[in-house]
Amino acid sequence: MDEMRLKLAVQKSGRLTEPSLDLLTRCGLKLSRGKDQLICVGENMPLDVLFVRDDDIPDLVQEDVCDLGLVGLNVLEESRLELAARGHPARFQQVRTLDFGRCRLSLAVPDGVSFEGPSSLRGRRIATTYPFMLARYLREREVNAEIVTLSGAVEIAPRLGRADLICDLVSTGSTLLANHLREVETVLESHAVLIRTPLELPPEKEEWVQRLLMRIEGVQSVRESKYIMLHAPRSALAEIRKLLPGSESPTIIPLEGFPDKVAIHAVCRENVFWETLESLKKAGASALLVLPVEKMLA
Ligand code: PRP
Ligand code: ZN
Repeated sequence: MDEMRLKLAVQKSGRLTEPSLDLLTRCGLKLSRGKDQLICVGENMPLDVLFVRDDDIPDLVQEDVCDLGLVGLNVLEESRLELAARGHPARFQQVRTLDFGRCRLSLAVPDGVSFEGPSSLRGRRIATTYPFMLARYLREREVNAEIVTLSGAVEIAPRLGRADLICDLVSTGSTLLANHLREVETVLESHAVLIRTPLELPPEKEEWVQRLLMRIEGVQSVRESKYIMLHAPRSALAEIRKLLPGSESPTIIPLEGFPDKVAIHAVCRENVFWETLESLKKAGASALLVLPVEKMLA
């Protein structure tokens, strides 16, 4: 492999795959072929994408096989705790919080089983694929319980009699519902993060890391942003400015032939809903136009 190209690890198939690829596309990356191969070459950046199991991503960065990784905080935290337990400090740095891959690691009990807080866990068997995070949770609450470490299919462990309850990832909640389980406590709120090696990279590689970080910032800040244009009576200017969601300094332009009116253009850093448009209209605004923002660079 070319040593001068950045290597970025992405989940091969799962909740992070599509949003990770979408983020990279929005950052301008064009990849060689489909995601069925292990490595995809970036055609217009010195960056290649490795498709791997999400659980392997922290290790790949830890061992400098990859320079960067897009991974869930849940997987990252578990790996950090496991490394610490083995006496190794984690060698990956968390460099960006990303706005996708939201889910939570939660405790869930079978329907009909009561739960009155962490003390209800005493002496219970809890099935999980996150033994280190569960152990920390129990330790912090001074509860003794048995951790049943599984490699998958945690949600069926209570029915098989292998555990009394589970500690697993929940995102839509449909897995719990289908297995007659009820979420009772959150152990960790999770979302995707970008991690990198702490190693000093050659300047060309480091420059691309910095460019990628800046582009990610830009992509994330425009996701919710809108560009709004409208006409307003000068007398209503103050009220209308207050109604524009998350816009610091709108541009105010005189309107030829209408001395009492102005045009207002503003970037709103929040979505503009119909309700907002209706309030603006009520305040005297007309000719309202809302446009998506494609790119933004501060
Ligand atoms: C998690 C978890 C459940 C599912 C929950 O697995 O183990 O199976 O997601 O999601 P839901 O609330 O939307 O139904 P994941 O897909 O992360 O698999 P992995 O642990 O093998 O990566
Ligand atoms: Zn996984």
